[in-house]
Amino acid sequence: MNPNIIDEAARLRKALHYHNHRYYVLDDPEISDAEYDRLMQALLKLEAEHPELDSPDSPTRRVGAPPLARFDTARHAMPMLSLDNGFEDEDILEFDRRVRKLADTGETVLYTAEVKIDGTAVELVYEDGRLVMATTRGDGETGEVITENIRTVRAVPLVLRAAPGREVPAVLDVRGEIFLGHKGFQKLNRQRLSENQPPFANPRNAAAGSLRQLDSRITASRPLEIFCYGVGRTSATHLTSHWEMLCELKYLGFKINPLTRHRIPIEEVLSFYRHLEEMRQTLPYDIDGMVVKVDSLPLQAELGMKSRSPRWAIAYKFKAVQETTRILQIDVQVGRTGALTPVAILEPVNVGGVTVSRATLHNEDDIAQKDIRIGDTVFVERAGDVIPRVVKAVVSKRTGEEKSFKMPDLCPVCGSTTVREMNEESGKLGAVTRCVNSSCPAQVKENIKHFAAKGAFDIDGLGDRLVEQLVDRGLIVSSADLFRLEQGELSALERMGEKSAENLVTAIENSKEIPFGRFLFALGIRHVGEGVADLLAKAFQHLDTLMDAERDRLLAVEGIGEIIAESIEHFFAQPRNREMVHRILDSGVHIIYPAPKSAAPLEGKTFVLTGTLSAMSRSEAKKKIQDQGGKVAGSVSAKTDFVVVGDAPGSKLEKAKALGVRVVGEEEFLRLLGK
Ligand code: IVH
Repeated sequence: MNPNIIDEAARLRKALHYHNHRYYVLDDPEISDAEYDRLMQALLKLEAEHPELDSPDSPTRRVGAPPLARFDTARHAMPMLSLDNGFEDEDILEFDRRVRKLADTGETVLYTAEVKIDGTAVELVYEDGRLVMATTRGDGETGEVITENIRTVRAVPLVLRAAPGREVPAVLDVRGEIFLGHKGFQKLNRQRLSENQPPFANPRNAAAGSLRQLDSRITASRPLEIFCYGVGRTSATHLTSHWEMLCELKYLGFKINPLTRHRIPIEEVLSFYRHLEEMRQTLPYDIDGMVVKVDSLPLQAELGMKSRSPRWAIAYKFKAVQETTRILQIDVQVGRTGALTPVAILEPVNVGGVTVSRATLHNEDDIAQKDIRIGDTVFVERAGDVIPRVVKAVVSKRTGEEKSFKMPDLCPVCGSTTVREMNEESGKLGAVTRCVNSSCPAQVKENIKHFAAKGAFDIDGLGDRLVEQLVDRGLIVSSADLFRLEQGELSALERMGEKSAENLVTAIENSKEIPFGRFLFALGIRHVGEGVADLLAKAFQHLDTLMDAERDRLLAVEGIGEIIAESIEHFFAQPRNREMVHRILDSGVHIIYPAPKSAAPLEGKTFVLTGTLSAMSRSEAKKKIQDQGGKVAGSVSAKTDFVVVGDAPGSKLEKAKALGVRVVGEEEFLRLLGK
């Protein structure tokens, strides 16, 4: 091709990237919109005349690509963690004390405090300075690949600019929050209404919905924005502080939120929070709090993480929206562990866009301390997606007709006695009242619902109402009985046809193959959530080892403390629980165990890659091979075990054939990787 044309395309692309950055990242354009359009038109024309100029990082790609049939998924090279939440100053001070204690330092620890953007998290993967993949957070381990959608977000750089005096990092995974500003959100909803489409409830849903469009041209039409706040995998190892890292990201072309305070002591973190609370109404986008991060990267590394969140960061959430209404009645619910929870039945009220008619009251002491009575006018609040709660009573509105609440001495469901246990941590009388009968139908139902839910056995079509019917009719008394259900019994139930009964039996059958971590989570052991269950699965590798593990062995697992360890030990010490586990396994449930760490499947094998793979980039392939113990060499020799051939392979393929080295295509390669 004419070198002048190549140069001209490169010049236009460079200029458009530059002006795009000035406009969308720095909010400081140097040229008029008309001039920008002229550059864009010139490039579009050139690319149309010379299709061979096509490149995924061209600024013309911002308009979106042809629709996908479905989203692929990809593992994050490093897990995308979530954050612990704090709701008052004391939580943040406690966090600081914990950090200093773990860091074993009496000195002041410095923090960087950022706004917490209320949007949806993404990871942007760059190789040699080019955006090669973008994913949603997903479950933190694996997300959906939304690269084409992300290319349409103007403030996401498609190519990085090198920081002064440095080259761009060879690999860099950047994390950030995609969101819609208020103006963009209103405009989008006006447009939807005019097209007779339902409006989005809030900017967060609108942003998340826009990102998950199979047709990236739709995403391109939504004014999505981004602020970046962290990195995953990176080859930029010279950095020593979080703030320095943010500055580096800014140099590279990412948009960093300007409301960031760096290297401040905890007292200033608290005053920054007050400041944000006051000014959040004036911001053009939603924030739901502040994120406090230990600034020093070596200290972050030392503090490490718990199962799902780092020990070096905490979110300080804003207080929720509140409204007033009246408590009509206080019901008592019995939970999975037998805990009795008082629930306020309310005169329905709209709280921040959602109708609330029930709210939790936590426990008896809380009600007594706040002196909340049946018939009271109360403040209710809703924070994010959390269940609404009653905050306090409006005493001035009392009529004298209000009644105090007392926790029942007998379980409202099974009539057994209730007890208030000792608190496991403090050794004092705990706040929780429990039903002592572990066969109480309420507990049984909740346990089975948990067992069948997402993250556990994930049985499609086995909803809460159905579990209740099954228990009420005596068809099942424990989770293990689910596997013995027959189609005939099911189709006799309310709202159950032959077809749904058949589907349910199939879904139950299909759930029998289950990864170890999910199996453990399904058992409903107290304090063993999904994150802890995964830790246990990785550490113990087999159910028998875990069932017989003693306290010390449990405590040796990073992320498992006294309370969790005791709970696990206690669970497996009870014959009825062991029996239930055996009954589940006897009914054909098959646990899939993680591949043992020592037996790296590709141990000692040497790979050479040639050509382009469709499922992953070259460096991803290299990483995957290395993760499984293999080596990757640059050239083929008699010592090479496999030559992986992608599209348009080079001379390495010839050489492999000449030397008689085993040649594998992409599909076989994926199988070798165990995909
Ligand atoms: S840091 C390991 N910083 O909040 C640290 N998160 O509740 C992980 N978020 O999934 C996140 N603004 O989607 C961080 N400045 C910020 C943030 C932020 C918003 C979101 C993010 C994350 C969620 C955790």
